[in-house]
Amino acid sequence: MKLGRLNHIGVAVPDLDAAIAFYRDVLGASDITAPFVLESQHVRVCFVNTPGEHGTAGTQIELLQPTVADSAVGKWLAKNPLGGQHHVCYEVPDIHAAKAWFERLGKKVLGEPRIGAHGTPIFFVHPKDMGGQLTEIMETPRGEH
Ligand code: CO
Repeated sequence: MKLGRLNHIGVAVPDLDAAIAFYRDVLGASDITAPFVLESQHVRVCFVNTPGEHGTAGTQIELLQPTVADSAVGKWLAKNPLGGQHHVCYEVPDIHAAKAWFERLGKKVLGEPRIGAHGTPIFFVHPKDMGGQLTEIMETPRGEH
C-alpha cells in the first residue's frame, strides 16, 4: 500500500441544492458539477472542484444528499443534522491489491469493490480501524493525473 492522491472529501448535506448555493455564493466555488443520483449508494451527488496549482485540477469536495433515510449516509445525517465531513477518499493504483492489504492488516473492509461516483472501483474501510475516519479507497481513474 502506498498512499495516493487525496481524491476528495465526502461531505454529507441535508439539502444538495442549498449546499451548491453555499459553495458557490459563500465560498466562491466556480466549478461545480451537475448533480446526479448514485443509486447503489442511495445518494444524490455532485462535485465541487477546487483549483490546483498552475491550472491543474485540485481536490474535490463530494457533496452527498441521501435519497433514502434508511441508508448509510441517511443514518449518518440523522445523527449529524447539519451535515459535515463524512469520509475522505484516497486513490490507489490497484483496488484489489489495496483491499487485500487492508484485510491482511485485519481492517474491516465494507463490502466488495464497486463502481463509485467517479466511475472507478471503490471500497470503504470502517472508521473503527482507521482512527475514527471513514475512509474510501478508490482506483485512480485511467487517463488522469
Ligand atoms: Co466519496
